[in-house]
Amino acid sequence: MQIIRDIAMLHRAVTALKQGGKSVALVPTMGSLHDGHLSLVRMAKRVADHAVVSIFVNPTQFGPNEDFEAYPRDEARDAALLVEEGASLLWAPDVATMYPGGHNTHIEVAELGADYCGAARPGHFDGVATVVAKLFNQVRPDVAIFGEKDWQQLAIIRRMARDLDFAIDILGAPIARDSDGLAMSSRNAYLSDAQRAAAPAFPAALNAAAQAIAGGADVTETLVRAEAAIVAGGFDSVDYVALADADSLERLRAFRAPARLLAAARIGKTRLIDNLAVG
Ligand code: PAF
Repeated sequence: MQIIRDIAMLHRAVTALKQGGKSVALVPTMGSLHDGHLSLVRMAKRVADHAVVSIFVNPTQFGPNEDFEAYPRDEARDAALLVEEGASLLWAPDVATMYPGGHNTHIEVAELGADYCGAARPGHFDGVATVVAKLFNQVRPDVAIFGEKDWQQLAIIRRMARDLDFAIDILGAPIARDSDGLAMSSRNAYLSDAQRAAAPAFPAALNAAAQAIAGGADVTETLVRAEAAIVAGGFDSVDYVALADADSLERLRAFRAPARLLAAARIGKTRLIDNLAVG
């Protein structure tokens, strides 16, 4: 597997990978890879001839009081995992390569980015959309794969790719979960043993709510009950539990398919997100 940090070298390497009409799938990540990321790499290898993975902890998607500095980084370990998975190329630019001095262009997917995590993390999705557009232009993949755990992010990237005419298929990969139901996340590493033991209360509450709503229960009451169950399960606060149209992300007061239950909750200093299909 080639590890590349320079844009001109990347262009040459991707051109070589594409020779003979071969296709390339990009898996954008911030590193600290877990089985969820590796399932995206496996999917990339199923849908394309080459899997290219990017690792870039993107400063512009972290707020001033968020965990940019503390975000776990271990490129050597990540690279070894990617070699095992058969990735062809690791694109690992530094901040100066991604944002050279004077960088001043940003992408905002206004409507989809305003609610849910966008409300709790102002500017976060502008940072995500901008860096993903740059990664698309840098790597020029045929396909790009994102985890469904960040459902709002996936919806924003799909819209951005459509609105800006990126000729790239955007694929979502199912959420990878630990055996107790907790969605895999690099941020799970922040949890103490006690917090990790409590954390499955989050997906359990969402599962119960999704089943209740699909079974005809009142949406508002069910969401309030889910929030209470998450706090009773050991979480300190709930940012939101919402029923949304799966594509437009419009909040729904009554169930209609396709719908998604979206949620974010805080345990100690860690903010976890999760989501489920309803019905
Ligand atoms: O989901 C992530 O890891 C990041 O938001 C992404 C898509 C790699 C952009 O930095």
